[in-house]
Amino acid sequence: MVATRYSLQVSPSASRLTLQTASFAPDSTALRCLDWDRDRFDIEFELQNGTTYNSFLIQGEKTALIDTTHGKFTSLYLEELQALVNLAEIDYLIVNHTEPDHSGLIGDLLALAPQITVMASKVAIQFLQNQIHRPFAAQMVKSGDRLDLGNGHELSFISAPNLHWPDTMLTYDSGTQVLYTCDVFGLHYCDDSLYDETPALLEADFQLYYDCLMRPNARSVLAALKRMEPFAIGQIATGHGPLLRHYLADWTGRYRTWSEAQAQAEPFVALFYAGEYGHSDRLAHAIGQGLLKTATAVELVDLLDTDIHAVRELVTTAAGLVLGMPPQAAPGLEPMLSTILAAAHPKQAIGLFETGGGQDEPIFPLRNRFQELGLKSAFEPILIKAAPTEATDKLCEEAGTDLGQWVNRDRTQKQGQALDSGLDQALGRLSTGLYILTAQKGDVSSAMLASWVIQASIEPPGVAIAVAKDRAIESLLHGGDTFVLNVLEDGQYQRLMKHFLKRFPPGADRFEGVATYAAANGSPILAESLAYLECTVTHRLEAGDHWVIYCTAKAGRVAKPDGLTAVHHRKASNHY
Ligand SMILES: Cc1cc2nc3c(=O)[nH]c(=O)nc-3n(C[C@H](O)[C@H](O)[C@H](O)COP(=O)(O)O)c2cc1C
Repeated sequence: MVATRYSLQVSPSASRLTLQTASFAPDSTALRCLDWDRDRFDIEFELQNGTTYNSFLIQGEKTALIDTTHGKFTSLYLEELQALVNLAEIDYLIVNHTEPDHSGLIGDLLALAPQITVMASKVAIQFLQNQIHRPFAAQMVKSGDRLDLGNGHELSFISAPNLHWPDTMLTYDSGTQVLYTCDVFGLHYCDDSLYDETPALLEADFQLYYDCLMRPNARSVLAALKRMEPFAIGQIATGHGPLLRHYLADWTGRYRTWSEAQAQAEPFVALFYAGEYGHSDRLAHAIGQGLLKTATAVELVDLLDTDIHAVRELVTTAAGLVLGMPPQAAPGLEPMLSTILAAAHPKQAIGLFETGGGQDEPIFPLRNRFQELGLKSAFEPILIKAAPTEATDKLCEEAGTDLGQWVNRDRTQKQGQALDSGLDQALGRLSTGLYILTAQKGDVSSAMLASWVIQASIEPPGVAIAVAKDRAIESLLHGGDTFVLNVLEDGQYQRLMKHFLKRFPPGADRFEGVATYAAANGSPILAESLAYLECTVTHRLEAGDHWVIYCTAKAGRVAKPDGLTAVHHRKASNHY
């Protein structure tokens, strides 16, 4: 039975939000929130056909809700949910993935139904604890764990880290043979059809979604497909778009074909960590984030939840390795380490980190062994004894970026070679000034010499800056972030330029030895700059290998009224 409810529009310009409820298997109801007019998703892609956010209710002897929906549906969704079930009777909320379009109203739901136990991966629970500022019952689950809801609905959890987000898991109901996948196998497509009856209508959006969200982690997709193999799957209930039933093998086959092709084509880094140990997972994810900034594929592997053959295969084929020190006493880890050492080879770079669990494998002897095997150290061993902070996340991210840049050094070198074409030379005649961006956010600071800077609006006073995707400062330049744009002075900029072009190790204080004072927005003003602007990021536009950051300038000052801005001339477009 498919029942479609239409929301009341608040104003004629408001976007259409409707909710469809449908029974799709015994005791199982889909709540599909249809967002007909959404035209953009994250920063990543434009939507042609709106989107849906799907949530599912299983009513066995116990009742479980699988994922929720976007916060914009809060009242519509809660009203419909209460029509289906007494909220006080919901026992579990299974969170396959915590991105806000699926978790935006979990706080509201738990306020109304505090008896609910949230079942999710460790990373997901940590994320929710930071989001929802009140205690709630939670149970961490990992691959192989089960939950019996009664009436034949036994749920199995399958971890699928890195499929778009680190927290991702899949949930399988053996009673209905439905696999709940949240983002995985999704597509942004909005219509009333519950199922994938007409694949021709869906193909393009299915592929775009894969390309944007899944392709960067193709190896993780293959690992998840392998973990799905033991389950007889009759339907895939995704978090976006129609449920997949009629062409199931075709859809999963596409993921396999695309991911195999991608995995063969691109160098990748195998990142080993010990999932439930210390803060290993947080550091690993921060390093993975840094690798992704360089468009390097990452295979994230929990050493406590994998097998030795998979480890050997990965180490043999990876371009780079990262290893979080596992606890010495963990059973089965000694042979894992021996396997990693035996399969590592001199064409690789290695990075090691230690999370201060207290009983770790000693890091420096291991580093020496990798060096003796001829591997290059991508970054100095990271030793984090206390609880990680934003500053240690940033350090790890920069370490990951350094490794990613090493892995891609051939590609970068080719791009850097002179193109010798008219276009390249003509583009190279675009000249600009010289600037230093400085940013401070909490304990984290960064700086960068920039020349691709231009005034972009008069009202409001606005500036556009092109920032390469793998810059250290890039993660401090998201929407709402503030920074200072320091203008360098003609004839006086050499010292500052030389300083900020140094190759800083991950986490280094880039301001050491440089005179600064704090702007009202908290970022450092360089005392030697000719002028400065205090800026707030309002938009980011993806522009190939750069982000174009548009920001509004809130305040500014010129230190020397007669000073001239340093001008930067060049002759080719493939360097600054
Ligand atoms: C003259 C000059 C101008 C530059 N302009 C830019 C720029 O506009 N955008 C950018 O992303 N990088 C620019 N760079 C590169 C960065 O300043 C520099 O390589 C970077 O700070 C080092 O990377 P990291 O900060 O990620 O460690 C420029 C470099 C030079 C030499």
